[in-house]
Amino acid sequence: MSALAVTTQSPFDVAHDFAYHRDDFQALSALIYADAGIVMPEGKAMLIYSRLTKYLRDRAVSTFAQYIDLLNRDPQERRRAISALTTNHTKFFRENHHFEHFARDVRPGLIRRALGGGRVRMWSAGCSSGEEVYSLAMTLLGEDQVMARRIAGSDIALLASDLADHVLETGRAAIYPSIGTAEMPARLKQNWAKVEGANIVISDAVRDLVRFRQLNLLGNWPLKGMFDVIFCRNVMIYFDEPTKEKLLDRLCAKLQPGGFLYIGHSERLVGPAVRRCDPVGPTIYRKHDA
Ligand SMILES: C[S@@+](CC[C@H](N)C(=O)[O-])C[C@H]1O[C@@H](n2cnc3c(N)ncnc32)[C@H](O)[C@@H]1O
Repeated sequence: MSALAVTTQSPFDVAHDFAYHRDDFQALSALIYADAGIVMPEGKAMLIYSRLTKYLRDRAVSTFAQYIDLLNRDPQERRRAISALTTNHTKFFRENHHFEHFARDVRPGLIRRALGGGRVRMWSAGCSSGEEVYSLAMTLLGEDQVMARRIAGSDIALLASDLADHVLETGRAAIYPSIGTAEMPARLKQNWAKVEGANIVISDAVRDLVRFRQLNLLGNWPLKGMFDVIFCRNVMIYFDEPTKEKLLDRLCAKLQPGGFLYIGHSERLVGPAVRRCDPVGPTIYRKHDA
């Protein structure tokens, strides 16, 4: 063998604390694809292993084969396992150009409507632990506290949904380490968050606008009404092409004519939604008027 030859050992060739074979990985990968649309190639085999061992320990099973058997019998355990396999990275004012666009081009019209007695609805789909929806709600309330009180008193609501229960709990608690708030504009932080020790607590005025809800984007959406703004960012990166197309088509169908869709920086509009929305900025789309 030459000195440069690299041997790559398969993760299934080594001994693990909990017996784990390629067909276990394949069964789990098929399960998360079926339940959540998330594609997990073999490169993620050890990620699956490390995220699930805690649950095997909790349920006192010693092999992945036994645990998969349990997942096929116990829907609650299955939901916990799927949640544990999601990737929930997020932060306040992530991809800030979206919030700048919203503040400049969308917010004024929505506020006019709301203060005139109209209804305004927004949705953070795949909200993770809530930083995205709170960034949006803070931007909506804005810098002027007097105006914010009028806005908060109007018919405005934000829905924040995710598949994973554990991140929704963090969102509902609305307490975050201060260290993760570096991107939060100073004035908005001053208005809408309170510093408590090493944390910030989101103000009630912002929290009252937001409702967190468990929802699988692949399943039924028992959602009444349409949305003026939908953020669905960094969720589709885990999906295959047909799942992306279908999801975008459904999101587009839930947008009001003239409504705005914001997607993640490495995502793009695909499928039938392309014919119903125009790009109006980087990864920002506006649905055609009726
Ligand atoms: C990387 S986070 C993105 C959070 C936020 N949108 C952002 O851009 O910062 C992706 C989120 O999508 C959620 N997710 C993945 N598949 C989902 C599905 N089928 N239905 C609902 N949420 C899903 C995950 O649980 C995770 O919290």
